[in-house]
Amino acid sequence: MTQATEFDSTAFRRALGNFATGITVITATAPNGDKVGVTANSFNSVSLDPPLILWSIDKRSGSYPVFKEATHFAVNILAADQMHLSNHFARPSEDKFAGIDYETGFGKAPLLPDCSAVFQCENHEIIEGGDHWIMIGKVVAFEDVGRSPLLYHQGSYSVVMPFTQQSDQKADAAEPQERLDNNYYYLMTQAVRAYQKNYQPRQLATGLRTSEARILMVLGQDRALDNKALLKEVDMPQQEIESATEILLRKELIGLADGSYSITAKGVEKAAELWQIADQEQTSVFDQFSADDLATFKKVLKAIAN
Ligand SMILES: Cc1cc2nc3c(=O)[nH]c(=O)nc-3n(C[C@H](O)[C@H](O)[C@H](O)COP(=O)(O)O)c2cc1C
Repeated sequence: MTQATEFDSTAFRRALGNFATGITVITATAPNGDKVGVTANSFNSVSLDPPLILWSIDKRSGSYPVFKEATHFAVNILAADQMHLSNHFARPSEDKFAGIDYETGFGKAPLLPDCSAVFQCENHEIIEGGDHWIMIGKVVAFEDVGRSPLLYHQGSYSVVMPFTQQSDQKADAAEPQERLDNNYYYLMTQAVRAYQKNYQPRQLATGLRTSEARILMVLGQDRALDNKALLKEVDMPQQEIESATEILLRKELIGLADGSYSITAKGVEKAAELWQIADQEQTSVFDQFSADDLATFKKVLKAIAN
């Protein structure tokens, strides 16, 4: 729905979540040796010549004084298997680097191993931007590893599934098409895309995003969970749990008592609706196959996934 200019910040943030981003951990070391690292998806490129990038940091962040003092910072672009680092650096803690592997770069900024890319930056300019500080860095060194990145979309972690060239193929290019038709990876991505195309609109029509649906389904297993327990169960960033639970509370799908969330009667109905959509979708896609075919399909999928 269109929102007027007088919108509430939860709805605004939720709408911004439609813009899919990568995830970075931005690190720095102050002249006194204090190290900080902050999960941030506000990173973006600014200029090629000079080579400038930016990101923004919440004015309330306890890490800001170090970023302000430090001569340099490093932008570590997380790879798809580094979700734990995103969650780790999104939580305030006394020493975020305890038990974390890193090397040091310019200005002693910590550099995380196995990222998709790392940009080492001079602290170039800090500009006020409402409740955030906009940090502009001049890139002085970078490493381009190219590992598949971790993505963030509508409050959930995601991975890249590239479009293959099929739509660019000419009609008479029979050979490449035949090759693609025999390529299992290509077929798997096409199948997932086709499945999502039908499933996603139905899930969206429930009025819930994936992250909200996931929390509702977890709480639907008849349990009351506090913030910490919920964090453990759903493996989502803390900030997303906060926004998603706020939306679920507003919709009266969950309740909050003594610091624990639990599902309401209305929530039980909604969770049943979500499960029904999942089951119906599966039935409509897979009912055309025999039990033997499906058993083989399941065996193949499980073997590949493990
Ligand atoms: C995916 C994701 C993206 C985030 N992006 C930003 C961001 O761009 N800027 C920011 O200030 N905080 C962002 N945060 C929140 C910070 O990571 C979080 O507030 C962290 O605790 C800040 O560190 P500090 O409290 O040690 O200063 C993000 C969190 C997540 C999970």
